[in-house]
Amino acid sequence: MNLPTIALLATGGTIAGSATAATDTTGYVAAALGADALLAAVPAITTVARVRARQVYSIDSKDISSAHWLTLARAAQEALDDAAVAGVVITHGTDTLEETAVFLDRTLDCRHKPVVLTGAMRPATALSADGPMNLYDAVCAAAHPDSAGRGVLVCFNRLLLQGATVHKRHTSALDAFGPGEAGPAGHTGPVRYHAPAWQRPAPQALPRDAESLPRVDILHVGAGMPADLLEYAVQRGARGVILALPGNGSLPEPWHAPVARAVAAGVRVVRATRCGNGNVSAHHIDQQCGSTAAGPLTPAAARIALMLDLLADHC
Ligand code: SIN
Repeated sequence: MNLPTIALLATGGTIAGSATAATDTTGYVAAALGADALLAAVPAITTVARVRARQVYSIDSKDISSAHWLTLARAAQEALDDAAVAGVVITHGTDTLEETAVFLDRTLDCRHKPVVLTGAMRPATALSADGPMNLYDAVCAAAHPDSAGRGVLVCFNRLLLQGATVHKRHTSALDAFGPGEAGPAGHTGPVRYHAPAWQRPAPQALPRDAESLPRVDILHVGAGMPADLLEYAVQRGARGVILALPGNGSLPEPWHAPVARAVAAGVRVVRATRCGNGNVSAHHIDQQCGSTAAGPLTPAAARIALMLDLLADHC
């Protein structure tokens, strides 16, 4: 059979997790199994694609750094540039999958081939582990001609979500990922999309010698909280700060002067929302303090966008 070749890039996470008991879904070791073990658990994949597996790293995604994103982006681009490869699947821990999805969505040239991220909420050793079905669906999506031109996709619990807007919304549920306001891009079982592929901006080229990204911190701002942490972040060398603020990015009065001082010192300050959904619009406070509005980006996505902007400024 003439099956498409899919490059599988494995990075660890719960999908590769192992526990001592099949009933244990929390006390397990993430990133314990390799790519070959994940594939061996899903023989049906061999009817959909020829999979070429590569272990890029094995990590619990809470420990991912910007150096890991750069390594992964280079591995994914190399696979995409290989004429024999029809699409790329990346297995990843769910805890920071949304950050990796945004980073790859902005940096990979995947206009003509799909890139699909997936993971699992239960370790591979669990009763009713969700990883095998997620992996199968991700390979089906990466092998499907309609998946190209949609940027990086996240395949989870039978949904296809846009990597640019996906967010983890639950600590343990199998449908842990929400699509953002745009709703899901499509479904699997079989693969189908709700709208045609869309025009996308050109990807941001990564400098060959970049080993890390500029430091950008996220501060979650609670009612009545002083701005000391902003001052500390600036002192510690943050080049940008994302404020996860109440409501429509509402900046509490005691934060006005510290934000203005940070901006005057060359630090980019972005107003985002802690609401989880919705747009943060430009406001006259931005003229007063020098901040900018995150628009539709979550704090995590706004952080990646700002890290990449700062990297581009540096080049
Ligand atoms: C991780 O993010 O690597 C562990 C948790 C998970 O994959 O769900």
